[in-house]
Amino acid sequence: MKIPDNTSLSNDHHSFSRPESAVVQHLNLNLQVDFRNKTLRGTATYNLIKQPEATQIILDTRDLVIESVLLEEAAPTTFYLTDPEPFLGQALHIDIKPDTKSITVHYQTKPEAAALQWLEPAQTAGKQYPFLFTQSQAILARTWLPVQDSPGIRFTYQAQVQVPANFIALMSAENPQQKNNTGLYHFAMRQPVPAYLMALAVGDLAFQEISFTTGIYAEPVMLAAAYYEFEELPQMLRAAENLYGKYLWERYDLLLLPPSFPFGGMENPRLTFVTPTIITGDRSLTSLVAHELAHSWSGNLVTNATWNDFWLNEGFTVYFERRIMEALYGKDDADMLKVLGYQDLQHTLQEIGPKSPDTHLKLNLAGRDPDEGLTEIAYEKGNLFLLKIEEVVGRSKFDAFIRDYFQKFAFQSMNTENFLLFLKENLLAANPTWLNKVNPEAWIYAPGIPAHAPVLVSGKFKQVNTQIENFCHGSPAVALATQSWTTQEWLYFLNCMAAGINLAQAEELDAAFRFTQTPNAEIAAIWFKISLPLGYSAINPNLEEFLLRVGRRKFVLPLYQALIKQDQEKAVAIYKKARANYHAVTTSSLNELLK
Ligand code: BES
Ligand code: ZN
Repeated sequence: MKIPDNTSLSNDHHSFSRPESAVVQHLNLNLQVDFRNKTLRGTATYNLIKQPEATQIILDTRDLVIESVLLEEAAPTTFYLTDPEPFLGQALHIDIKPDTKSITVHYQTKPEAAALQWLEPAQTAGKQYPFLFTQSQAILARTWLPVQDSPGIRFTYQAQVQVPANFIALMSAENPQQKNNTGLYHFAMRQPVPAYLMALAVGDLAFQEISFTTGIYAEPVMLAAAYYEFEELPQMLRAAENLYGKYLWERYDLLLLPPSFPFGGMENPRLTFVTPTIITGDRSLTSLVAHELAHSWSGNLVTNATWNDFWLNEGFTVYFERRIMEALYGKDDADMLKVLGYQDLQHTLQEIGPKSPDTHLKLNLAGRDPDEGLTEIAYEKGNLFLLKIEEVVGRSKFDAFIRDYFQKFAFQSMNTENFLLFLKENLLAANPTWLNKVNPEAWIYAPGIPAHAPVLVSGKFKQVNTQIENFCHGSPAVALATQSWTTQEWLYFLNCMAAGINLAQAEELDAAFRFTQTPNAEIAAIWFKISLPLGYSAINPNLEEFLLRVGRRKFVLPLYQALIKQDQEKAVAIYKKARANYHAVTTSSLNELLK
């Protein structure tokens, strides 16, 4: 076996591994889940591909206890850990022999392992059993297993996980659908995946099938609501396949997590993890599921080679997400999502500065935590770039190009430079004017939004604008024509209100529309954010309840920022109470803020 050519694309600043010398091809993981001590303990056996002269293999670790290392599951070998580095952790150097085929590491995780969140029963919906889940992206896989933690390195895996009776374990792999009384579960991921797509969840979970190849895992008390919200999963999957080619991962299931999950969703292969904050009872926030599903192509099939190329994962996925939404619900709905995304992009540009190099699509995250690259730039500027290409070449040519791209580079990594070459040769070269019209370099290597960016408009939002004008010209809130509005119209309305209403107007709007009491987390979060600087204190109990229950970083970070400006002591006091419910991804951002 040869080391795959395309691992050399990596040159990944965020991994210690040296795949050009020795690379993991298959992992066999054996874990015991210990809720009492909040540890995972077990063995990981790695099948290697290596250069004949390689004397070591290097794995990434962070906060792991390495107990011993064996060659061929039998002969102890020597190893050492380098000194810990912030967010990167420690390189595990393992001495190997010219004929070494496999190594086995005996190890344990620490209770503070950043990928893992160990929840008390009170933090779950059922309140009876503890819960464990992982979040590995971007570079947290190394906090729960020794691994070559670079998106440019792929391996297949199998696992055996022992959990207590009454629990079920799930992974980003072929999964059980029922509890068994031994608590021992077996997993197989037969398609090669990068380490950031390794995932595990353990809890009191039940499964409900939606179609032959799709279904939902959730805590029993949440299952019916989740089923209703996500019942259109099979239609989404079909729409995605019609757009960009066959789904290559066999099953697509969702796992509904407790509300402390730090993201909206995570595209763990075969088993997307989702926040319960998208359950509204009216299916109005399911574009997030379309997004995670789209990653089954953009991201999980064709994977950003390094975190500097993150826009290749997220920009394509946002574009694809909205194409799925358009296929299911029509252009008007997709257009609203595009305009809302564009508004988010504008806010981000203001925040990080329109001239900042962090607004280039191609990032330079050397020496920094890759988490810093996680901004709307990758998502919404990435999407806008792709919309520009679509505008110039036309949809049918663009679709054919994307289909080829996914097919040609399936199960490989891709960097920005090679994407650019592929784009020029396989699409833009067909017409002498296209390259200039698209001007990819302006998007990829220059800041801000290029002047030739597509202009996004939404017919539905034009009607919202009319109502906003009415309100600003003195029409009472109760008289506004809002009867047909969905979540997206309300979000647009509130985004516009954020620009400049006063306290009396906030009170009037709340009396008319009851925003403070809304069960819709997206609407609540923007409403609280608008209300805080106005000193509209009627939100306080609801805001506090929200911050104590929800750990989704996209919501809680801006809310603490607004709260600090208003009342620093109160922000600190709420954080002190809420913190135990937040995942490390969320606390690491909040600790900066609330030191
Ligand atoms: N893969 C991302 C989440 C992520 C990115 C985690 C980088 C860690 C590092 C996921 O697909 C995502 O983008 N989630 C979004 C939702 C989406 C609809 C924009 C989120 O969690 O808000
Ligand atoms: Zn994404």
